Amino acid sequence: MEPKLVDAEAFKAAMRTWASGVTILTSVADGQIHGMTVSAFSSVSAQPPLVLVCANQASFTHEVIEVSQVFGVNVLAAGQEEISNRFAMGDAAHRFEGVPWTAGSTGTPLLDGALCNLECRVRNSYREGTHTIYIGEVMDSRVREDAAPLVYFDGGYRSIG
Ligand SMILES: Cc1cc2nc3c(=O)[nH]c(=O)nc-3n(C[C@H](O)[C@H](O)[C@H](O)COP(=O)(O)O)c2cc1C
Repeated sequence: MEPKLVDAEAFKAAMRTWASGVTILTSVADGQIHGMTVSAFSSVSAQPPLVLVCANQASFTHEVIEVSQVFGVNVLAAGQEEISNRFAMGDAAHRFEGVPWTAGSTGTPLLDGALCNLECRVRNSYREGTHTIYIGEVMDSRVREDAAPLVYFDGGYRSIG
């Protein structure tokens, strides 16, 4: 007999207890830049330097990463809620408007105002449920020393301190 699984509501209630940072997952394919808000990000290993992100297979960002096999992770700083909301909603064509960014060596957009930028190439990917887990090798990193992180908890934005 199949083991019983929790229902979606119980699962979401449990996940809301997990405080995380907020990132903008970016990529580029055929000269077209794209990005979306992602909280499912984690360090995997330091040697080699690996991270993971989970992207919904229905997202356009997923489509772009499938083609490019590269991605950027931009950790948002306190006060960047508006960027987080913008990259999570419709009107994808205008998400980068007024958001300064620099292209990494792969062309991936790296947001200038972020607390940290990572430029990664896909080392492995695993389709699980509705999402794909991308394991990325970190090729380049930049950290801003003078800012605090944006925190996401229980469906809302928080800041530390
Ligand atoms: C705080 C927050 C965290 C999110 N985290 C994720 C995530 O980890 N993975 C994901 O696939 N979508 C996540 N989303 C939803 C996407 O940002 C959203 O579906 C987006 O519109 C997809 O854009 P696209 O289809 O243009 O790529 C998150 C949204 C918010 C507001």
